[in-house]
Amino acid sequence: MSKRIVFTGGSGKAGRYVVPYLLDKGHQVLNLDLMPLEHPGVTTLNVDLRDSGQVFNALSMHFDFEGLESGTGPAPVDAVVHFAAVPRILLQPDNVTFQANVVSTYNVIEAAVKLGIRKIIIASSETTYGVCFAEGDKDYHSFPLDEDYDVDPMDSYGLSKVVNEKTARAFAMRSGADIYALRIGNVVEPHEYDRFPDFIAHPPSRKRNAWSYIDARDLGQMVDLCVARDGLGFQVFNAVNDEITADQPTAEFLAKWAPGTPITRPISGQEAPISNRKIREVLGFREEHKWRRYVDLGH
Ligand SMILES: NC(=O)c1ccc[n+]([C@@H]2O[C@H](COP(=O)([O-])OP(=O)(O)OC[C@H]3O[C@@H](n4cnc5c(N)ncnc54)[C@H](O)[C@@H]3O)[C@@H](O)[C@H]2O)c1
Repeated sequence: MSKRIVFTGGSGKAGRYVVPYLLDKGHQVLNLDLMPLEHPGVTTLNVDLRDSGQVFNALSMHFDFEGLESGTGPAPVDAVVHFAAVPRILLQPDNVTFQANVVSTYNVIEAAVKLGIRKIIIASSETTYGVCFAEGDKDYHSFPLDEDYDVDPMDSYGLSKVVNEKTARAFAMRSGADIYALRIGNVVEPHEYDRFPDFIAHPPSRKRNAWSYIDARDLGQMVDLCVARDGLGFQVFNAVNDEITADQPTAEFLAKWAPGTPITRPISGQEAPISNRKIREVLGFREEHKWRRYVDLGH
């Protein structure tokens, strides 16, 4: 069913793939960003999400000039997808990263809930698992990494994402709205598969990403599935592809490259160390862009 979706951060690395995916599925999208998105059929409203007044306003506007034709004011918004953020450390001073991400997410969720929007999807991150931006060589507590893990980042960005998940949970409890947080893995665009042979040749280089990734187009499918599925309240879903970025069965690989990290359930075949079992079982995700489709390891 076609939905009216407000998308934040649609001009960024992930949004440039997720927004077109949603349009292809027949949805209408309004993009809120500081930068334009050059894509037909989408208006970008220049909004600074750190300002709550701007956010309330942007969530109650027409999506385009056609909206004027009804003569009855802006139509209701069915879902908000919040991807805008400072997307990692070392882009801004740490306090700015934390403040921007936490305040923007609070503003978006609060405005959506108070305006009666019943579906909100937010971008959380693999960094909540604590290793990605850790000082030094930190080990994961156990594998596979699933949504019940005791998240413990030590950096400003990962911490902002943990706080955002708590903000989401608080507003879901208070309002009864559905708020789903996607713990997104390292986002891979189609042209980035040429990096994989190097990933596979140097396993320690991918420990911080838990040897997992998400194809930007498959992330589009995940967001669409979240839009479609109502009634789950607050949820966290890992958002990664099915398989480990290694050329060895996962159990064998982890025994070699993460020795001493407990394994809490049998890991079969090439299963990614960040588990996507929940999003497959609960929302029906089926990956379309397995890395092996695009990478020739020469054997
Ligand atoms: N790229 C990854 O590998 C990765 C991994 C895990 C999680 N994530 C998360 O996914 C989301 C998208 O990541 P991305 O890689 O596309 O990031 P990106 O930086 O490419 O895109 C983010 C967009 O948000 C916009 N933005 C930033 N601050 C804003 C503000 N105050 N008001 C309005 N717009 C603002 C930027 O202009 C940009 O277009 C982010 O929340 C990020 O934290 C990304």
